[in-house]
Amino acid sequence: MKQPTILVVGSANMDLVVKAPRIPVPGETILGGSFARVRGGKGANQAVACSRLGAQTFMLGRVGTDSFGDELLEGLQSDGVCCRLMIRDEEAASGIAIIVIDGGGENAIVVAPGANGRVSPADIDPVRGLSGIDAVLCQLEVPVDAVEAALDAAREAGVMTVLDAAPPTALPASLLAKVDVLTPNQTEACAILGLPVDACLAPEEAAARLLETGARQVVLKLGADGALAAWDGGMERVPSFPIEPVDTTGAGDAFTAALAVNLASGKDLVAATTAACAAGALAATVFGAAPSMPTAEAVAAFMKAHGRG
Ligand code: RIB
Repeated sequence: MKQPTILVVGSANMDLVVKAPRIPVPGETILGGSFARVRGGKGANQAVACSRLGAQTFMLGRVGTDSFGDELLEGLQSDGVCCRLMIRDEEAASGIAIIVIDGGGENAIVVAPGANGRVSPADIDPVRGLSGIDAVLCQLEVPVDAVEAALDAAREAGVMTVLDAAPPTALPASLLAKVDVLTPNQTEACAILGLPVDACLAPEEAAARLLETGARQVVLKLGADGALAAWDGGMERVPSFPIEPVDTTGAGDAFTAALAVNLASGKDLVAATTAACAAGALAATVFGAAPSMPTAEAVAAFMKAHGRG
């Protein structure tokens, strides 16, 4: 398989994580368990995953000049991610995420974007006229106008664009038309389609409607039910891999990164989605976001062990 080169444009956060018996309801205080500080942020998690999955990986985004910014950059570099496009923002603190994880590995997350919220279209200028890149991978934890500028730069260079539509955000039609592969979960699909978050659309109907927005291919993340890969003229369900989740934080990031790496390596959409389901499942078996991103070898062994290699 050819080694792809991927540019990730997105967020880096320091995750402040508390384990608790359950997620508190509004107005409630509960006693939790241990606390940990873990590298995260959807962009940084995906950059780490791309690198561990074998891609040459560049990340573009912003962190503050604080010690969290130092740690986030050092962590990315230690995972082999090139950070020369990262900006140290002197006006804003590094992004953080407050995360509660319950006994079943589910989470609730609030992000204070800090420097991530100051990523701008001008920040994308250094990568205009890109060459040698196989895919540009974005998420929605940086401003939408910067994401659209990154997609523009990719399109101008004829480079594949992958958009992880997380967290849930309404998106302009102009942006969706620049997406080659859109990877929402069902809540994010509702946000894009302008529906209430609890709208009960069948996955097939959601995928069909998402294709009508202009995205060329859609991979709908269905959690324990796997994923639905959809393209102009076809759809296919991809089953999940059975696991006991420890912490689902970052599982979606591992999924999208694996999808991007496998597509950029030449796999077809269904094969890449199968690898993405495996990577997401593996990430959910390990505590923490960036630390849980799996390697190419781990994904290959896991798929083989399940007879899907
Ligand atoms: O997708 C998981 C990530 O969401 C966490 O690492 C947290 O930082 C938030 O960005």
